[in-house]
Amino acid sequence: MILITGATGFIGRHLVQRLVERGERPRCLVRNISRAAKLLPAEKVELVEGATTLAFTLEPALRGVDTVIHAAFMTADRKQSAGNTYEGTNVIGTTNLVNAALAAGVRRMIELSGLGTKPDRPGSYMQGRYLAEEVLKKSALAWTIVQPSVLFGKGAPFFKGLADLIRSAPVVPLIGGGSLRFQPIYVEDVVTVILRLLDDPEGSRNRTFVIGGPEYYTFAQIIDLLMQTLQVRRATLPMPLFLAHIGATAMELVLPKPPITRAALTLFTFDNVTALDAVERQFGFQPLSWRSYLAQTGKDGL
Ligand SMILES: NC(=O)c1ccc[n+]([C@@H]2O[C@H](COP(=O)([O-])OP(=O)(O)OC[C@H]3O[C@@H](n4cnc5c(N)ncnc54)[C@H](OP(=O)(O)O)[C@@H]3O)[C@@H](O)[C@H]2O)c1
Repeated sequence: MILITGATGFIGRHLVQRLVERGERPRCLVRNISRAAKLLPAEKVELVEGATTLAFTLEPALRGVDTVIHAAFMTADRKQSAGNTYEGTNVIGTTNLVNAALAAGVRRMIELSGLGTKPDRPGSYMQGRYLAEEVLKKSALAWTIVQPSVLFGKGAPFFKGLADLIRSAPVVPLIGGGSLRFQPIYVEDVVTVILRLLDDPEGSRNRTFVIGGPEYYTFAQIIDLLMQTLQVRRATLPMPLFLAHIGATAMELVLPKPPITRAALTLFTFDNVTALDAVERQFGFQPLSWRSYLAQTGKDGL
């Protein structure tokens, strides 16, 4: 039995769909069953209500489970609020899950992390991601960590956020000057990677896999391609990171869902890239390029 956490999320929904297509009936830990039943093929999965932050809900969710795929995280595009923190969801939630998995006799866990995860200042988003990896690596579970660059696909949080910004703002800020590079990877390709890892417990045991798509794009090129796809033209303004930080702080104070958060700005402190052939070399298939995807879907793919 496979348990998926974060099944209602962007990666989780695609993963559940593919597992169901290949005849599996995964168990999904969800925070609200009636909402999840609208997002997932409810009759083909097992829905269990709970949360990684509520340790007492995990024992029934993990009963009889062999492998956990852990994708329940508070992502960088969400601002923190009371009871909803990077530390609480990502670190304590993962710790609860790992402890409950060990107690339930689970053998392995595949964790969805992010490219460039490294130690940072206490309480920060990046430190939470780092500790969420560490807690699994230091456990007695067989572990696999997947670190993708930014994902694309319909409704992908990073690109949807930028598209919304372009649609609504008269001037688009080129955060950090626009020269930092990203390596967008298609959500279905990330799912293919997860399924390959799932099918190869020995080869993936206690290893971290860093993955990205087949092309690099600077942030300025991303904004340009999004404008072409949306068929809108906006002025762009290079914006140093510290100014973007002030803007994000102000927006987090007044908006329930700010277009940019301080946590998301962490992604603009390093090149979000790995080798261009990372997927082909490690998994033997050629991932889809973002440019080809957009050429096929147009703005409907955002
Ligand atoms: N999307 C990307 O571009 C990208 C790139 C690199 C790495 N990643 C990593 O991949 C992972 C998944 O990302 P995603 O894009 O799928 O995120 P997402 O769409 O925001 O989904 C997050 C999921 O986690 C669930 N969740 C949050 N807190 C929870 C809790 N306490 N207990 C149980 N479930 C909880 C959410 O449930 P609700 O539906 O109830 O809110 C949702 O199902 C994250 O670690 C992210 O950093 C994503």
